[in-house]
Amino acid sequence: MPTTREVAPGPGSITRVGVVGAGRMGAGIAEVCARAHVDVLVWESTRDLAEAGRSRILSSLDRGVSSGKITRRERDQAALRLRFTTDLGDFVDRQLVIEAIVEDEAAKTAVFRELDRVVTDPEAVLASNTSSIPIMKLGSCTARPERVIGMHFFNPVPVLPLVELVSTLETGRSVRERAEAFAEQVLGKQVVHSADRSGAVVNALLVPYLLSAIRMAESGFATPEDIDKAMVLGCAHPMGPLSLADLVGLDTIKAIAESMYTEFREPLYAPPPLLLRMVEAGRLGEKSGHGFYRYD
Ligand code: CAA
Repeated sequence: MPTTREVAPGPGSITRVGVVGAGRMGAGIAEVCARAHVDVLVWESTRDLAEAGRSRILSSLDRGVSSGKITRRERDQAALRLRFTTDLGDFVDRQLVIEAIVEDEAAKTAVFRELDRVVTDPEAVLASNTSSIPIMKLGSCTARPERVIGMHFFNPVPVLPLVELVSTLETGRSVRERAEAFAEQVLGKQVVHSADRSGAVVNALLVPYLLSAIRMAESGFATPEDIDKAMVLGCAHPMGPLSLADLVGLDTIKAIAESMYTEFREPLYAPPPLLLRMVEAGRLGEKSGHGFYRYD
């Protein structure tokens, strides 16, 4: 089901977006923006990572063509709307910046400090796709916390229609409205609102479920295959929890669990030892070729 819309943006809407990070989430966000006629500038830390991000987006656009969701012409036009940089200083003219780097608070606060320095438009919205870091921590390291908001997308971004908007105690109403209008009217996504709590709505529910599945596999209660099969066939989930953990990335799940545990001190958010050992072993899921399953 297509979730982006091939319509020209109306007057006053956001037409220049910056995306920080071209990993799976950043690439997905950049892709849906480009498909929605938005000029997109994507930052990565090195030229090689920027090139890998470009390839990731182009192959996803190609998948859109082969599944008949977009025409080859739309794919080519979307590709032309994407530019890449390794210099955040190039974000000077952006109206909306969506940060989507690794789930690491120090790295994210460094990005927000830099964005605050370089983005000149006083109306610009500075957003984070963080899964679990409180947005206030990012807003408070800028001189404009009222312009900072959480815009949380879901993997695969071109497929899943939700954006969670996370407003802090300081986020301005106009910023919330502008972010909502962009997500709904430009990207064609649907929005839910959440207070600024680690994990927002979806991860507060999803992460304990994934961690429970990992604990179940760890204890030998059932095999990973049977745990996944049970939830796919018994509850009509599109994929089982351990396949989903591999898709999201076990390092990301660990980082989210740690943030949520820090926030709530609830044992259900504590990362189980098997998850910690798998991350230490470099078994990060699909992206490393090995998690609960192997990906060749
Ligand atoms: N890019 C573009 N399109 C994609 C895609 C991608 N990366 N992955 C799948 N698709 C499209 C396919 O082209 C296909 O389209 P058509 O039906 O039009 O042909 C459609 O999506 C279904 O894909 P597949 O047939 O290949 O596979 P599937 O039916 O098994 O679905 C899936 C794959 C979309 C990943 C599905 O299993 C699913 O939705 N899983 C659940 C994912 C989920 O829960 N994500 C949320 C994770 S939580 C998160 O992201 C936030 C966080 O903070 C952790």
